Amino acid sequence: MSTLSTRYMGLELKSPIIVGSSNFTSRIESIKEAEAAGAGAVVLKSLFEEQIVSMAHSLSSRESYPEADDYLLYYTRTNSVDAYLDLVAGARKSVSIPVIASINCFSPKGWIDFALEIEKAGASALEVNIFFIPTDKHQNSNDSEKVYFMIIDNLKKRLKIPVSVKIGLRFSNLLNFVWRMYNHGAAGIVLFNRFYEPDFDINNLSIVPASVLSSPVEQRYVLRWIGMISGQDMKIDISASTGVHTGEDAIKYLLAGATTVQVCSALYKRGFTVISEINDALHKWMEMKEFRIVDDFRGMLNYRNVENPSLFERAQFMKHYSSYI
Ligand SMILES: Cc1cc2nc3c(=O)[nH]c(=O)nc-3n(C[C@H](O)[C@H](O)[C@H](O)COP(=O)(O)O)c2cc1C
Repeated sequence: MSTLSTRYMGLELKSPIIVGSSNFTSRIESIKEAEAAGAGAVVLKSLFEEQIVSMAHSLSSRESYPEADDYLLYYTRTNSVDAYLDLVAGARKSVSIPVIASINCFSPKGWIDFALEIEKAGASALEVNIFFIPTDKHQNSNDSEKVYFMIIDNLKKRLKIPVSVKIGLRFSNLLNFVWRMYNHGAAGIVLFNRFYEPDFDINNLSIVPASVLSSPVEQRYVLRWIGMISGQDMKIDISASTGVHTGEDAIKYLLAGATTVQVCSALYKRGFTVISEINDALHKWMEMKEFRIVDDFRGMLNYRNVENPSLFERAQFMKHYSSYI
C-alpha cells in the first residue's frame, strides 16, 4: 500500500499536496474543508507589508498623540492585522495539518518584528511572498536581489520556525539565486508565484488585469526550473506552484523533484474535491508503478538523475523546432 506522507521544511505532512495561499485559506471553515479533503498543509492568505507597516506607525504615534487611540481602533478594524493573528491561532487549534502563514512584502524593514507575532500565534512555518517589480533602469540585478537576502537574514535572526520564500519567475540566473537563498538559510523555495500581470483592452485602449486563474499549460514554464534546481547540491525544499489542476500535473512536479505541490486555481474552478482527486490519482499511479513512498520517485526526472540532462537545456531548441514541419 502506497503512502503519501512527506517531510516539508521539517514538518510532517500526510500528503505533498498543499492548499496554496488564496482566499480559500483566509477562513477557518475552508481550512477545515482543506484538511477533510486530504490536504497535507495549508498556506494562509498573505498579510501585506503595507498593512503591517501602517499598524506599526499607528502604534508608535500612540504615545505622543492620545487621539491616535481612535485611529488605532479604526486601523486595526479595517486592516485586520490582529485578525490575521487570530486566523493563525484559530487554524492551528482547528486542524491537525501544518498551518503556514504568509506575508507579502517588498522591503526588508518595518514588518519583520511582526513575523515574531505570527510565530507566537502558532504558525508552523512562514512563507514570505516577495513582490516588487524593478522599475529603475540604473539598478542592477545584484542590487535588486539583495532585498531578498536581507529579508531572509532578518527573519532568520528572529524566528525559530522554518521560512520559505515564494518568488516570481524572472531572474537572470535562477540557480545562483536559489543557491544563495539556501546559503542565507531559507528552508524552502516556492516556485513560482503568479503575479498580477497587465493586459491591454484594445477596444477601450486601457490596461486591464490578465487572467487571475492559471491553466495547466503554464506548468511548462515551471517544470524545467524545478528539475534543474532539485538536481543541484543543496538541501532546500521545493514547493511547486502554478498550473496544478490534476493528479498528472502533481506527479510531473514530484518527478521533477518538488517536495510539495501547491494547488490554487484548480480549487476556484472545481472546489476541494480537486485535492482528494489528486491524492487518489497519486495513490493509483504509485501502485501501478510499484512505488511505495513518494521518495521512491521524487526527482527521478531531475537534472541530475535523468540520463540526458541536456534535455533541460538550450541544445534542444534547434532540434525541437527543426523537427516541427
Ligand atoms: C484569487 C487568488 C488569490 C491569491 N492570493 C495569494 C496570496 O494572498 N498570497 C500568495 O502568495 N499567493 C496568492 N495567490 C497565488 C497562488 O497562491 C498561486 O501561487 C498561484 O495562483 C499559482 O498557482 P495555481 O496555478 O495553482 O493557481 C493567489 C491566487 C489567486 C488565484
